[in-house]
Amino acid sequence: MRLDKYIADTGIASRKECAKAARAGLVILNGAPVKDVSVHIDENTAQVIYCGKNIQWQKYVYLMLNKPSGYISSSDGDSRSIMRLLPEKYSKMDAFPCGRLDIDTVGLLLVTNDGPLAHELLAPRHHVEKTYYYKCSPAINEEQRKRLEDGVDIGDHFTKPSHVSCAGDEGEITLTEGKFHQIKRMFEAVGSKITYLRRVSFGPLTIDESLSEGEWRELTPEEIKSLQDKTKR
Ligand code: URA
Repeated sequence: MRLDKYIADTGIASRKECAKAARAGLVILNGAPVKDVSVHIDENTAQVIYCGKNIQWQKYVYLMLNKPSGYISSSDGDSRSIMRLLPEKYSKMDAFPCGRLDIDTVGLLLVTNDGPLAHELLAPRHHVEKTYYYKCSPAINEEQRKRLEDGVDIGDHFTKPSHVSCAGDEGEITLTEGKFHQIKRMFEAVGSKITYLRRVSFGPLTIDESLSEGEWRELTPEEIKSLQDKTKR
């Protein structure tokens, strides 16, 4: 891999900035300054210091974001994109939200640049479970709860069996699919309306309750492995 790509992939600087820093003697490769950042290096063993900072190349990043209301699940430059909540380096690393939450839905959103894993996690054949805490009005009764569980007609789709924890005006619903506005449309189909929606889990990942809305953290190696294992079954 080229040295300037290695540095740019970490998000610390653009390739142009790397070239400039190298000319100023600020790029050190394996203990010696490098003037030409087009040089090829072994990304697994290289020791690189950029402007006095030790940097480590990472192919993939995996983040858990507690999405607040008012942000959209897109990776583009929209001012309401959830990417605005994260350091710019993750956009430079081409990270994107894995799946979508509505603008007014809050809670767990996985952000990664691991395209193959994201693709697998969203593939219907893996039936990745997503659980949401909801509030609805009016409250649903037992018959409506059962209808939601069995599957309802939401216009363009008949929903697969789901789990709805209880009758009443709040509860948890677990789905294995993710159609546009699915939960809102399911509740409308049984004569109720979602007034609050928060995703609490995505497959093996559970929202880290120490994250306030708008906060994020990197996934632990165990969490990353649990996601990878989920797509192997
Ligand atoms: N269902 C919805 O209606 N909205 C979401 O954001 C997620 C699931």
